[in-house]
Amino acid sequence: MSVLDFMKQTSSIPDKYKTMTIPEMEERVRSIKEKMGSKLYIPCHHYQKDEVVQFADDTGDSLQLAQLARQNTDAQYIVFCGVHFMAETADILTSDDQVVMLPDLRAGCSMADMADLQQTERAWHTLQDVFGDTIVPLTYVNSTAAIKSFVGRHGGSCCTSSNAKKVLQWAFSQKERILFLPDQHLGRNTALDLGIPLEHMAVWDPIQNKLEYDGTVEDVRIILWKGHCSVHMNFTVQNIKDFRKKHPNASILVHPECTQEVVSQSDFAGSTNYIINMIEAAPAGSVWAIGTEMNLVSRLAQQHSDKTIYSLNPNMCPCLTMNRIDLPHLLWMLESIENDVILQQIVVASTVADEAQLALNRMLQLA
Ligand code: 13P
Ligand code: SF4
Repeated sequence: MSVLDFMKQTSSIPDKYKTMTIPEMEERVRSIKEKMGSKLYIPCHHYQKDEVVQFADDTGDSLQLAQLARQNTDAQYIVFCGVHFMAETADILTSDDQVVMLPDLRAGCSMADMADLQQTERAWHTLQDVFGDTIVPLTYVNSTAAIKSFVGRHGGSCCTSSNAKKVLQWAFSQKERILFLPDQHLGRNTALDLGIPLEHMAVWDPIQNKLEYDGTVEDVRIILWKGHCSVHMNFTVQNIKDFRKKHPNASILVHPECTQEVVSQSDFAGSTNYIINMIEAAPAGSVWAIGTEMNLVSRLAQQHSDKTIYSLNPNMCPCLTMNRIDLPHLLWMLESIENDVILQQIVVASTVADEAQLALNRMLQLA
């Protein structure tokens, strides 16, 4: 069976879920959850749709979801409402007898797909030739298990947008330089935050297989993998100008996956969790533009009707892959568990998982 056939087979939801009403589906999810109790665990990323989030046992950003997966030893079935790399992380951090399922296998992440193992091995080889043994590799958790395993093997760590600063500080205590995968923007924004000037940052282009840098190589402190988030790239400096013109007294709050130009012209920048905490702590009557995924922005606007909340980009849409997980797919997973059928299980091979876990553990010890 080809990979395509496999994907078609495993991600085609039975027709019956297309004809059920929303109340019927909600009732079925509720009753299966009640019946299964703590044997079933549904963690949800903040970017998930409301129709799914309402059934979450926990919601969180990438860091919290990794921590929660590790702490949960009761659940036999973890139905992960997020994207593929998050489900892989949950599988790595839970025990072998816990089953992790992803309701729709098409819920990938375009950023994670921007760094594959072959490209990374090739880059590492060249960078070792140029810089010698002076580099610690770091990867944003938004990466495949294979990349996490590469990083673990070479003495590096994972990070999330919540702990990137701490992890970079740790890495600089280990070696002179960092290779930061796969999001150049989180890497650049965090390094700037640590006082590293742009002139000391190089970019690795995995397609051209080359280092982009104008200065003297000895000056390079961080090598940024040329990857990005296709959602956060949609916030622009023009959006900021337009918003400030209309709302001169408002504040702009963005995720550090946005470009450095956008982050530097915003008032605040931080992880998903930071964004939520900022809005919760904001005074009634305050006005905000938020530069992050649309499901979260809409939820914050709804939950904080005493504040005015806009998306920084008025034409923004949600993360399409996160949105693959919906109520019918969630119910499909739960009914299959009820019928003792395991579908769409995410299993990371132990050879990969062991080294990936080294990188995840380094991060979790620092977090
Ligand atoms: P955080 O959950 O770390 O804020 O990351 C955002 C994101 O893009 C997840 O895919
Ligand atoms: Fe990936 Fe960006 Fe979507 Fe997060 S928001 S899952 S980084 S594409």
